[in-house]
Amino acid sequence: MQNTDSKKDSSGINTATRLAGLLGHPVGHSVSPYLQNFLAEKYGINMVYLGFDIEEGKLEDAVKGGLAMNAIGFNVTVPYKKDVMEYLAGVDAIAEKIGAVNTLKLEPDGYHGYNTDMPGFGRALDYAGIDVKDRCVVMIGAGGAANAVLCSLLEKGAKNVLLLNRTVEKAEALAERFRSDYPDSRIYTGSLDGTEKSYPGAMDDISKDKWIAIQCTSVGMSPKTDETPINDDSFYDRLDAAFDIIFNPEETMFLKKAREHGAKVSNGLGMLMFQGIRSFEIWNSLDVSDDIADELLSGMREEVKKNTVKKGGKPKRKFSFIVNDPKKKHSGKNTQKYT
Ligand code: ATR
Repeated sequence: MQNTDSKKDSSGINTATRLAGLLGHPVGHSVSPYLQNFLAEKYGINMVYLGFDIEEGKLEDAVKGGLAMNAIGFNVTVPYKKDVMEYLAGVDAIAEKIGAVNTLKLEPDGYHGYNTDMPGFGRALDYAGIDVKDRCVVMIGAGGAANAVLCSLLEKGAKNVLLLNRTVEKAEALAERFRSDYPDSRIYTGSLDGTEKSYPGAMDDISKDKWIAIQCTSVGMSPKTDETPINDDSFYDRLDAAFDIIFNPEETMFLKKAREHGAKVSNGLGMLMFQGIRSFEIWNSLDVSDDIADELLSGMREEVKKNTVKKGGKPKRKFSFIVNDPKKKHSGKNTQKYT
């Protein structure tokens, strides 16, 4: 749905401007408004993208509000990626498989849900020059983000995936959801601490080749930047490439150790960028070029730095709206903020 015919006026916005936005709670530090408005500007699309902090219990109202206002689409983030599915006219097969929707696109019968984290991760791997086809991959973490990552690895033809998680039952449940759909790949599970089948023994059992590691837990995220889910040097010795879905800090302890052991490394900013690019492509039926992606990525790096909380300081907020809950009128939490 391109909307290039009615150009924005000098303020950047006119009555033909279409709305898009992010639905989440919280959304204060999101880079998505920067990302989407950058792309809209580059491709001459008359749309504006805002962050909407949707309080608990208000998600259905938010989706209905979008419909009423003919909003072109939304991104959906934590904690609504599963819950939003019940308010949609349709959900595509990949999003159904992953069990999470992060993109809504307006169609004549309502919003349809997609998952762009999965192709976004795949494109970020390509961008980083990490090829998982026929390779052995160790994934650390089995939470929400791990679903899209595992699906992408399997789609790309990873041969063996060893899924390590603090809670092994969760790793096993995740593996089980995908095993029958990808019979050519083997998905093994194990723990992080060696109490169950674990690394590096399990890695050696499966293959003595070098491995690619994907870090999908929240461990090492700012401000706890000196933590890593795996400390053991023998683990890092086995890697020739490592990807961390965290992008703040730019280099987690996990990536630092992997790099110091000679692996090619990439952080998660590319994944964030490509999931946003894919959403923009879905809304506007176009393909974003590599040159624009390069330019966008450097802008995003700066944006993340600006939004990072410094000691004693507050992050700069951009385009963030808070949907109010009238029941909390006297709690001091219902102040409407347009920043
Ligand atoms: P997300 O949506 O970002 O994936 P999540 O669903 O809460 O977030 O999942 C967080 C992941 O980080 C999980 O794999 C979690 O392990 P558990 O399944 O055992 O909870 C992992 N994780 C969080 N804190 C951890 C820690 N201190 N050590 C190891 N793993 C941790």
